[in-house]
Amino acid sequence: MPLILNVDDNEGARYAKSRILREAGFNVMESRNGRGALEAVRAHAPALVLLNVKLPDISGIDVCRQIKSDPQTATTLVLQVSAQALRSSDKICALESGADSYLSEPVEAEELIANIRALLRLHFAEKALRDAAHRQDCFLATLAHELRNPLAPIRNAIELLDPARAVPGSDQDAHALRMASRQMDHLGRLVDDLLDAARIARGNIELQKSLLDLGAVTEAALEAARPALQAKQQRSTVRMTPAPCLIVGDGVRVSQIISNLLSNAVKYTAVGGHIALSLETQSRHAVLRIADSGIGIEPDELPHVFELFVQSRKAAERADGGLGVGLALVKELAQLHGGSVVARSDGPGQGAEFTVRFPLAIGAQALPQAPRRDAEEGRTRSAPRRILITDDNVDCATSLLMLLEIEGHDVRMTHDALSAIDLAASFRPDVAILDIGLPGMDGRELARALRRHPSTENTDLIAVTGYGLAEDRSATSAAGFRRHFVKPAPFEDILEAISQVPVAAGHATSVPL
Ligand SMILES: Nc1ncnc2c1ncn2[C@@H]1O[C@H](COP(=O)(O)OP(=O)(O)OP(=O)(O)O)[C@@H](O)[C@H]1O
Ligand SMILES: [Mg+2]
Repeated sequence: MPLILNVDDNEGARYAKSRILREAGFNVMESRNGRGALEAVRAHAPALVLLNVKLPDISGIDVCRQIKSDPQTATTLVLQVSAQALRSSDKICALESGADSYLSEPVEAEELIANIRALLRLHFAEKALRDAAHRQDCFLATLAHELRNPLAPIRNAIELLDPARAVPGSDQDAHALRMASRQMDHLGRLVDDLLDAARIARGNIELQKSLLDLGAVTEAALEAARPALQAKQQRSTVRMTPAPCLIVGDGVRVSQIISNLLSNAVKYTAVGGHIALSLETQSRHAVLRIADSGIGIEPDELPHVFELFVQSRKAAERADGGLGVGLALVKELAQLHGGSVVARSDGPGQGAEFTVRFPLAIGAQALPQAPRRDAEEGRTRSAPRRILITDDNVDCATSLLMLLEIEGHDVRMTHDALSAIDLAASFRPDVAILDIGLPGMDGRELARALRRHPSTENTDLIAVTGYGLAEDRSATSAAGFRRHFVKPAPFEDILEAISQVPVAAGHATSVPL
């Protein structure tokens, strides 16, 4: 219950008001003069000061002015009460001194309480807005920091690839390429995290459920984390129950739960530390535990670690800090699976332990098994196709054109829909790779226009776009696109999609422009 400071030099009046406030459920402290009131406001930060205008030392108007002019106490509510007959000039004077409202005595108990409650409602709404704005500022600062981290090495890698900097006989180029590609993956993951954060905020994460062997998913996630563990020379102990741990879930999302926890364990544990993973069944649940010997979590931070964008002060300063999305996602996903997650830590330097519970699948054997993914799929090199690229981002279009030409395809590009329609009529592409957010006529309208034209009615349509929500995918599919890729799509995936396109008869040779 909010704390209210009741300031009045008249003992009887003060006592009466305190009683009314306590009966309404507020915590109350009292002061009999202005100086005492200012001290109490600074020391106890009450939510509201019920302030009599006439006080023996400093006037209530001045007390209010001082409360409101000190940044530390400025958000404290002040309700001025005057025993004098109400003159509108008094009221104006009180409000001008910064008071949030004004009542003149005698005040009915109900009227006093209703006024206080109304002021508190506004106060808490305003505080929530201020907190949200503060969180957003912090988040934007973290985001900028996190985006710059991978951008810096990518820029350096580009400098290294400049022929003017070539060092004959060195493997500098290969090294720079590997570095840029690693950092690109990192950037891609940040964008994925951001999108997941937006989905958490809107509560619309969808699961593709099937019957999963949690043991197998855990082993695969552990294998994927091995390089990171080895890079920090961390030891790991793994204890997995031999009993099958079948659960109903989304394989990709369950593996995301485990890898987020593992990557935290690695990230927040020093070089040479220890990480323990165990999987067991407890009556109707599968229990997965990931413990580390790392930096641990402060007791006051522990209850908040699962909140979106929450990071400890220490974590936020780290070069590999992330956005504070990982655990929020773990919690949301565990709950969507009918499970739960809890965090434990004995404090700084004492390590941390995260326990996830999933309900075991009982009588769910009829569900489809998760599709198996082949780890290494062969590289596809397909017969040459005629390909039209339309993207208003010239670098995106040009780089894709260069890559496709190296693969032997006959490629043309345009940067807007009308030129695409013009060019397509004579070029008769087998495939059109279209961006969706084009200026003027967008990619979907362009697709419909191509479909209507006899020379392109059979052209295969592939969308490569920054838009990746479920509704974006269904809109591209409705417009006639066969495939929808979200930028930055791996080039291999685009090649594979192109290889599925039949080469149209009579298109074997290129038509000169
Ligand atoms: N194993 C751990 N040991 C100590 N602190 C942890 C551990 N896991 C999480 N934390 C604390 O909880 C915070 C939130 O974790 P979360 O995974 O959500 O975000 P992050 O790791 O900072 O960034 P992201 O996961 O989005 O890249 C971390 O910033 C860190 O302070
Ligand atoms: Mg994390």
